[in-house]
Amino acid sequence: MQPRKLFVTTALPYANGAFHIGHIMEYIQADIWVRFQRMQGHEVHFVGADDAHGAPIMLAAQKAGATPEGFVEGIARGRRRYLDGFHIEYDNWHSTHSPENTALSQDIFRRLKANNLVYSKPVEQFYDPVKGMYLADRYLKGECPSCGAKDQYGDACENCSSVYPATALKNPYSTLSGAKPVLRTSEHYFFRLSDPDCVAFLREWLQLPGRLQPQVLNKAWEWLDGEGGKALGDWDISRDPPYFGIRVPDIAEEKYLYVWLDAPIGYLASLKNYCAKKGIDFEALLQDPQLEQVHFIGKDIIYFHTLFWPAMLKFAGAPYKVPEHVYVHGFIGVSGEKMSKSRGTGIDPLRYLDLGMNPEWLRYYIAAKLNAAVEDIDFNPEDFVARVNSDLVGKYVNIASRCAGFLAKRFGGKLAAPHAANAIIGGIQGEAAAIGELYDSREFGKALRSVMHWADQANAFVDQAKPWDLAKKPGAEAALHQACSDAIQMFRLLTLYLKPVMPSLAKQVERFLGVPPLAWRDAARLLPAGHAIGQYRHLLRRVDDKQLDALFNIESVPQVTAPQRHAEKPQHAAQAHSKEPAVNEVTTISIDDFGKLDLRIAKVAKAEQVEGADKLLELTLELGGAQRTVFAGIKSAYDPATLVGKLVVVVANLAPRRMKFGVSEGMILAASGEGPGIFLVSPDTGAQPGMKVK
Ligand code: 2FM
Ligand code: ZN
Repeated sequence: MQPRKLFVTTALPYANGAFHIGHIMEYIQADIWVRFQRMQGHEVHFVGADDAHGAPIMLAAQKAGATPEGFVEGIARGRRRYLDGFHIEYDNWHSTHSPENTALSQDIFRRLKANNLVYSKPVEQFYDPVKGMYLADRYLKGECPSCGAKDQYGDACENCSSVYPATALKNPYSTLSGAKPVLRTSEHYFFRLSDPDCVAFLREWLQLPGRLQPQVLNKAWEWLDGEGGKALGDWDISRDPPYFGIRVPDIAEEKYLYVWLDAPIGYLASLKNYCAKKGIDFEALLQDPQLEQVHFIGKDIIYFHTLFWPAMLKFAGAPYKVPEHVYVHGFIGVSGEKMSKSRGTGIDPLRYLDLGMNPEWLRYYIAAKLNAAVEDIDFNPEDFVARVNSDLVGKYVNIASRCAGFLAKRFGGKLAAPHAANAIIGGIQGEAAAIGELYDSREFGKALRSVMHWADQANAFVDQAKPWDLAKKPGAEAALHQACSDAIQMFRLLTLYLKPVMPSLAKQVERFLGVPPLAWRDAARLLPAGHAIGQYRHLLRRVDDKQLDALFNIESVPQVTAPQRHAEKPQHAAQAHSKEPAVNEVTTISIDDFGKLDLRIAKVAKAEQVEGADKLLELTLELGGAQRTVFAGIKSAYDPATLVGKLVVVVANLAPRRMKFGVSEGMILAASGEGPGIFLVSPDTGAQPGMKVK
């Protein structure tokens, strides 16, 4: 097999928040693929970085009272825990706010300009005179020009779905300051995507067989041909200050490159930074005709990666090269609930780790659900428990745990020569190419189904051989030795096939078997007669239902009635039980911090027991028109019947949280102390549902 050279990336996450399960899923997908390619003996350079620029990050930093540089550095520091925690092994993690990215982005901009693909023209845009900045559509609201609905964003109406330019909004206001925006004109730079050479190139690039998944290709064609075959519009690639980004080069005026221009260049910046650390010639690597550039991304950013990005690279010229593959995945939801990219409700990856849940359970479960299509996947807690416990523990680990002890006790850990005619060993070996093909084409679910099929066969073999009976039967020494040795051969082969998904478990098994790190070609060989294996130690725990309960609900957190969202650090059940600080020990917060809370008066419209929950009641709350469901940990203190009609205080802007029993859309306030009792906070007479508490 010709060795491949691969440059692999995952989408660069915005540096304004912690990773959520959607990020982790993508990284796990790419990491499995990379590990598989390495097991094949291919050369892989796998890099990631933070996407640090843009107005939202600049504003988030302002809100946090930090400089944008300090803010994104803080976020970057939090990344390691997730990556190490889930065994995601990048060769390098960098940032788009880096000297490499500045140099590369300005270089690419200059080259596009020299090729007459960049021009400038005046653009009229809304400007916030109070905040002193131009407003992207997301920072503008007003009345829909079609249906008159209030508080609609600057690009489309959520009420009647009409799409319009921001300038068409009636009574527009800035969501940043509330001020009435004014129209102002400034010079913007554009990438001439409509250029016939550009369009011709994209047509050719897109349709190379195998480059894109069929679904992705269709999407890209739709955009390219537009309605009635209209070509692509040109792309506005500059922004005015204030902006956190890279300066447009060679002009006196302060202007910045749009974040989506420098973000994908961050892939190259991370590679360049890595090359410098490793003494690799970056340009020579890029220009190596063998090098394949592969991007793993989510379905929401296909547009940028299949149109802008290849066109930028193509027309910037060598040493830049166009991507060989853009592999697109769907989103991950929890029990049928859609996961929003920004809210990231669902499983909190750090909470998962902090609860002591095994990261490889999640890697296995996600891999088992993934295929090569752009399909959303669903995390279903019951399914998760079943797959991990029955596949990994019940089938795979079981093979070794049933046989290893006899080998150690009776044969000094030494294996018998493999049984030449054992059809199962031969069958498992014979799958190497097919399973390899499935990994390479990202059909991980199918690969794992094949592994589990053979794990079933291996268990059936052990069931039939009955080593526990042979061990008691006089004269059955040789048969016992053979059966257990053959089962261990099967176990080794299955470990090899699982290794891209379960690298840490595979390492434990390699140690136990006394073998060097398993590579794909090792499937062709078996352990020789007399090979000594080590002491078998328990390899994998079963998932405990209680851990999943803790992951999804707050039953163990009595005084908090809905889980806290947190930036980098989850609230653990254990922490929640720790002694509260005395009133005078509590650290102060600013009035701005307090202002982030949207506290509202709500009326309990319905209060019900939750089947199977020890501490929760399900409350339906009325907040002046709207209704919400909140799960509150107050069952020990309140009879549901007494709650109906009562006024409470609810934190109305908490991100909804999926719990075992449903989605909780807020949290009600209650007091509790060292002693028993939970006491709901209620307003004085006269307060009305929906009123703000300040
Ligand atoms: O959508 C996002 O989260 C972007 N930060 C992805 C950027 S991918 C690449 F272009 F950097
Ligand atoms: Zn409308």
